[in-house]
Amino acid sequence: MKLWSGRFTKNTDKLTEDFNASIAFDCRMYKQDIKGSIAHASMLAKQGIIKEEEKELIIKGLKEIEKELEEGKLEFTVEAEDVHMNIETFLIQKIGEVGKKLHTARSRNDQVALDLRLYLKEEMEEIKGLILDLQETLLILAGEHIDTIMPGYTHLQKAQPVSLAHHLLAYFEMLRRDVERLEDCYKRTDYMPLGSGALAGTSFDLDRDFVREKLGFAWLTRNSLDAVSDRDFALEFLSFASILMMHLSRLAEELVLWSTEEFGFVEMDDAFATGSSIMPQKKNPDLAELIRGKTGRVYGDLIALLTVMKGLPLAYNKDMQEDKEALFDGVDTVKKCLLVFNPMLKTAKFKKENMEKGAKGGFTNATDLADYLVNKGLPFRDAHEVVGRTVLYCIERGISLEEMELPEYKGICSLIEEDVYDYLDVRKCVARRKVKGGPAPEQVKAAIEEGKMWLEGK
Ligand code: ARG
Repeated sequence: MKLWSGRFTKNTDKLTEDFNASIAFDCRMYKQDIKGSIAHASMLAKQGIIKEEEKELIIKGLKEIEKELEEGKLEFTVEAEDVHMNIETFLIQKIGEVGKKLHTARSRNDQVALDLRLYLKEEMEEIKGLILDLQETLLILAGEHIDTIMPGYTHLQKAQPVSLAHHLLAYFEMLRRDVERLEDCYKRTDYMPLGSGALAGTSFDLDRDFVREKLGFAWLTRNSLDAVSDRDFALEFLSFASILMMHLSRLAEELVLWSTEEFGFVEMDDAFATGSSIMPQKKNPDLAELIRGKTGRVYGDLIALLTVMKGLPLAYNKDMQEDKEALFDGVDTVKKCLLVFNPMLKTAKFKKENMEKGAKGGFTNATDLADYLVNKGLPFRDAHEVVGRTVLYCIERGISLEEMELPEYKGICSLIEEDVYDYLDVRKCVARRKVKGGPAPEQVKAAIEEGKMWLEGK
């Protein structure tokens, strides 16, 4: 028998039942559903809406159900449609008539909004922890590679030398913003919706604040219509998740690129790479590729939910049941990716010599030569022109700036002296960029310290 069978004269069509049911995926919220019901029942008793003994029975029943579900002794059914009605059905089967009082002054519409918020808040805490772990790894690696010189790129063309530490700290900053976005989204998830009923609140004298406090929410939702039809928090989470994945994907892409023989900047640990079924020599950075690939799923989850929500009239619509699979997939994917990214990165072997060799090619010190000329009194635009011609001269002869003889330099610009060779040393190029936020070792050390402090405060 359905919990809503009164108005119906026929049994539900089997296809309808299957199509309509969400139990296959919303069953993951059973703990939150039970927690919410316990708080609701406690409040109903406190307000004199149900009796104290009835509350005791309900809570005892719910706790037993939770235990039995954990032990796999209870099975959800499609007939009971979703997690909310499954648990209510179990309760009525277990404690009889009294179980039928639990749903007083409540609708599945405010119930599902509550469960989803409770669920997401927990997941957000966990995800935040995983991001912080990855950031810690970035800081450790950065600490080890302050003096590892590598080429920095723009347009994937060698640009200027930086250090690996500085490069890794760029990702630390991206993840810092992700954490901040997550914390911000948490604030808007932290609203307790029970009491909104189906859409129009309830005539019962509820103590919403009591429930809010019992469930650990910071605020109460302020409008019953909005509360049952708001999924902004899920959308914000998926937006956050999409941006986070984009960041992970960019680092993953660099690791894939750097793993090529052509770059040769990094080698993944054997435990975090895979082989080929046909080519015996292969070692592929599959993990990084897969993280890059899974980014698409999470974008898909965001777009799916945005599209579900657009054009929905107030208040609750069944379309909104589609929020869960997208949200759950986003949560699961982000967690899995963060979980493997950390050890993969931690164990990666960075090939310092190749990086430094890479930094020495491609005229990465050309800007420094221009700066050198500026220091000798030439306006920057003229210096740029002179160095451009010098680079061309070198390209034609297949040599680097360091390999030019002083007389050759003199032939191009009389301001150039013997001290130019010291100025062109890529290591010194990096060391000279002492500007705040720059790659010079002392700045990088300061950035690592600041990063550590920030992590400690989280
Ligand atoms: N399973 C539903 C969902 O996930 C719960 C709310 C159903 N409410 C309703 N009036 N049909 O959205």
